Amino acid sequence: MDARTTAPIPVASRIGGFVYAIRNIVSEARKVEAAGRRVRYLNIGDPIIFGFVTPPHLIETVARAMRDGHNGYAPSVGIPAARESVAAECERRGMPVSPDRVVITSGTSEGIELALTALAEAGDDVLIPVPTYPLYTAVLAKIGARAVFYRTDPARGWMPDVDHVRSLITPATRALVVIDPNNPTGASYSAETRRALVELADRHNFALLADEVYADLAFDGPVPALAAGFPDAPVITFSSLSKAYLAPGWRAGWMAVSNTPRMDEALAAIKKLADGRLCATGPMEYAIVAALDGDRSHQEAFRHALRVRAELTTSRLNAIDGIDVVAPTAAFYAMPRVTLPPGKTDADYVLALLRATGILCVYGSGFGTRPEDGFFRIVFLASPEELSGIYDDIAGFTRTFLS
Ligand SMILES: Cc1ncc(COP(=O)(O)O)c(C=O)c1O
Repeated sequence: MDARTTAPIPVASRIGGFVYAIRNIVSEARKVEAAGRRVRYLNIGDPIIFGFVTPPHLIETVARAMRDGHNGYAPSVGIPAARESVAAECERRGMPVSPDRVVITSGTSEGIELALTALAEAGDDVLIPVPTYPLYTAVLAKIGARAVFYRTDPARGWMPDVDHVRSLITPATRALVVIDPNNPTGASYSAETRRALVELADRHNFALLADEVYADLAFDGPVPALAAGFPDAPVITFSSLSKAYLAPGWRAGWMAVSNTPRMDEALAAIKKLADGRLCATGPMEYAIVAALDGDRSHQEAFRHALRVRAELTTSRLNAIDGIDVVAPTAAFYAMPRVTLPPGKTDADYVLALLRATGILCVYGSGFGTRPEDGFFRIVFLASPEELSGIYDDIAGFTRTFLS
């Protein structure tokens, strides 16, 4: 065989920009496991692996749908009943849309990809928070559009810096991404900040992509739609069964496009793209109806469990010399900061923590913060007892690392 036929098959250069640290870091954890140490995985926001259970009525609905023969392709935009349930849910949250403006997706993730693909050309700008959920930057890298980062401020409870957002707007701006409640910071935004962000999109005429996958998981109760009170603003909302309905593996999500003619072309483009991937996961679409129209009592217990873990996380981490953390008000993430010695990075700290204790977090630079700033993200879904042991170990390790 000559060298030409044995050379590696080349891959597209765009893959170089597609970075998803939450999973990439797992290869490091596998090495630690191979060396015989147990790893405690605090890197991924999956409630199921920490013992939270999918509501039985949702499981029964999916099983029934399969038994009833709903195993073929669904309509590319989703089954009518699921679209109606999502439209009714949007209306309850203050964003009235007709079912025709809803598309059922394979998780929030697919909605994000469809929307960015529909809205941004190569070279266009999309405003993204820092820290960010890394799928946004990964998809933009794939499209060739530019992620333009706006600050969210730990000194103000991780609130977006609206003046900074405003200063970044140019004729090339195609969309503003707002994640509220937020991953990775665990923040939920003030009404004033939310209003200011929607007004910017409205006035400057670009789409606001409202990632509301944690809307039911604010500890004080569900938060309204970002678009609530702005019926004519150009907004796309995204959510799914992954977090608040404890079914991340089902890949059952939705997007809804606000009811303004300004968004009609975007909606048509999204539907066109949706046709190409045939449909979302069919039997799970029936569970969207059961989830949104049915019993949600599991959510109250889940919110309570999260609040208890958030309080433990805040008090235990803030008691460690060299670490401070903003108290989360939603979801299951905290973004502590360790005051690093000169020359060290967040990845140095996170990898040393992993090797010394088996605790796996994700370094802040995986979410776009500067490596020298020392941020890292903790998923606090483990039981309070287990978390308590984890925070003991983080305290012991940090003392040594900083000494
Ligand atoms: C902010 C945010 N958006 C989207 C997603 C993806 O969710 P889904 O499972 O619905 O695709 C996640 C998952 O962690 C997330 O944290």
